[in-house]
Amino acid sequence: MSTETGPKPPAAAGSGVGPADEQWLDRYAGSLMGVFGTPQRVLVRGSGCTVQDADGREYLDLLGGIAVNALGHAHPALTAAVGRQLETLGHVSNFFTSPAQVALAEKLLKITGAPAGSKVFFANSGTEANEAAFKLARRNGAAAPGTDGGADAAPARTRILALEGAFHGRTMGALALTAKAAYRTPFEPLPGGVDHLPFGDVDALRAAVDETVAAVILEPIQGEAGVRPLPAGYLQAAREATAAAGALLIIDEVQTGVGRTGRWFASEGVLPDAMTLAKGLGGGFPIGALITFGERASGLLTPGQHGTTFGGNPVATAAGLAVLETIEAEHLLDHSATVGAGLRAALAAVDGVTEVRGEGLLIGFDLDADIAPAAVTAALDAGFIINAPGPRTLRLAPPLILTAEAAATFTAALPGILAAARAASSKGQP
Ligand SMILES: Cc1ncc(COP(=O)(O)O)c(C=O)c1O
Repeated sequence: MSTETGPKPPAAAGSGVGPADEQWLDRYAGSLMGVFGTPQRVLVRGSGCTVQDADGREYLDLLGGIAVNALGHAHPALTAAVGRQLETLGHVSNFFTSPAQVALAEKLLKITGAPAGSKVFFANSGTEANEAAFKLARRNGAAAPGTDGGADAAPARTRILALEGAFHGRTMGALALTAKAAYRTPFEPLPGGVDHLPFGDVDALRAAVDETVAAVILEPIQGEAGVRPLPAGYLQAAREATAAAGALLIIDEVQTGVGRTGRWFASEGVLPDAMTLAKGLGGGFPIGALITFGERASGLLTPGQHGTTFGGNPVATAAGLAVLETIEAEHLLDHSATVGAGLRAALAAVDGVTEVRGEGLLIGFDLDADIAPAAVTAALDAGFIINAPGPRTLRLAPPLILTAEAAATFTAALPGILAAARAASSKGQP
């Protein structure tokens, strides 16, 4: 486990972007599509929980590539596994398999407590895992009780229910599941049949799940909506309602899975028909997965109905296996649960913080004013990477190896960061 206690102070705290970063950002502006806005910094290396920019300034990475770098940066177990696999066998088509692919699938089935007949499909990202889940739902719409069934039948049930505030990805199927109008409207028409229910309303859910519904998809904690957990009992109610209606329950653990919440999966205790994973699974190497639980869900997609060139690639699956084994070997579930609880308690005591949410090391906290974007900038100048999913909401999703000492450097700096953010906001600066 990392023993670092925090970043060295930035070379020129408060000075914004340095000259080397500036040069790269000019080149970025001339060559990269502008879908992400201007990057905050140009990062050149990382180690443990710190990263360094092109000007040599260090930052404590409290965002972890948005819940991706579970083992931090350049963890020796991950770099060794990826290097070893690339030296041995880098890629095969899906006409073949590899030991890494099989071993990771088996490991995922083990840690999810999957019943007999459960299966894994590997993709390259969260949105692709959810595309596969969308297609699974369509096939359930063809095979659900009261429909014709048969591998070639068009679905009779095409409704899929998701929640307001949901984020499931940016490709067309996953975008149809995503709620935010600003992401959806420019790309309409999206695949049809998706309805969004009010967040956390069990009665609305029960009323909506009937024989027209092929699947319900839920995030146990909505990360992009500001780390918003489903109310207690909601997942169980969804399990019961979907089972009674012959609909699939699909749980999107792309952001919450693989130890992020101090448990392997935030939905533990409720067995869905399918679960999607990505982000932390590869620890920084791109990978996604759809896990189907039990014989019935696992038989819905038949040979030829879905595919991918890179999904299940030996290097990506070797990375995934190394991440899972390292989480176990370094006891990172317990560790992240403990560090997260301490961090949340410390955040709640900071003046100007009005609410703290989340589990483990997926943390959202609200401020008493719309200064979150300015706080991101001020934090960066103070040597911390954080994120603002809303105007008054900040999010932390650091590596699971974060130490309590490193976390404390942030909570100690936060009052100053918020003061700087208030000052910048009052001058109209981001
Ligand atoms: C819950 C959830 N699902 C899906 C996605 C999409 O994953 P990706 O960006 O890897 O496509 C995200 C990404 O933030 C997510 O948080």
